[in-house]
Amino acid sequence: MLVLLHGFPLDHRMWLSQIEDLSRNYHVIVPELRGFGDSTLSDRPYGMSDLADDVEAVRQHLAHGQQIELCGLSMGGYVAFQYASRYAKHLNSLVLVNTKPHADSQEARQGRLNMARQVSEEGVKAVMSGMSTKLLCEDTLRAKPDAVSLLEEMILGSQADSVAQAQRAMAQRDDFSDTITTFNVPTLVVAGEMDQLCPLDATRAWAGSIPGARLEVLEDAGHMTPMESPDRFNVALRDFLSQRASGREDLDS
Ligand code: MLT
Repeated sequence: MLVLLHGFPLDHRMWLSQIEDLSRNYHVIVPELRGFGDSTLSDRPYGMSDLADDVEAVRQHLAHGQQIELCGLSMGGYVAFQYASRYAKHLNSLVLVNTKPHADSQEARQGRLNMARQVSEEGVKAVMSGMSTKLLCEDTLRAKPDAVSLLEEMILGSQADSVAQAQRAMAQRDDFSDTITTFNVPTLVVAGEMDQLCPLDATRAWAGSIPGARLEVLEDAGHMTPMESPDRFNVALRDFLSQRASGREDLDS
């Protein structure tokens, strides 16, 4: 079962191209994180470990005790780091997309808390219009209007309370930069060469510290590789997953 975790402040629709392509061969599940898409926000504040527990509940419910392939973009990646550190034995492989293992600096944390307060007071439109220009590269903004409008629809359709809670949860997230050096699961890291939020040099550095991890760089993309470069993204993911499967057959035979 392939589980795809969306980024902030998005929902399962960021994976539409992957659902269409990969569902032909894989059991693809696209859970929505608390408060996003059709998922309800919890009554009490949550943290990344609660979201990792949510993923584990999905696995227990749908994977019939099997291991999963877990893929997360950005905030979904933060959940995937947490899941991998808590539930490593339930992972067959890990795909970390446009994300980072580090916790926030004090300044970044304060920025998130400010945004949480501002969005609660002023609403999503006032605070988050224009966010797509940070998430997408210039080529996408110029030449892929469908991707731009879908991304904006997701951002502007998100709920203020959910955005605020997610920012507070991300502000408190753990730092996995040491933990990843002990990861023992086949890992693919996907980066966009023009990602303004997760710069490529930094991604190369941490990806190199995960034992055996493969790094795939998509030149024609920013922070949203699955939407900006879906064909190349899907090929990279398929190649990785199929090598995993043939590796297993070799081991089985
Ligand atoms: C995301 O795409 O999920 C966000 O960029 C995560 C973040 O704000 O760190």
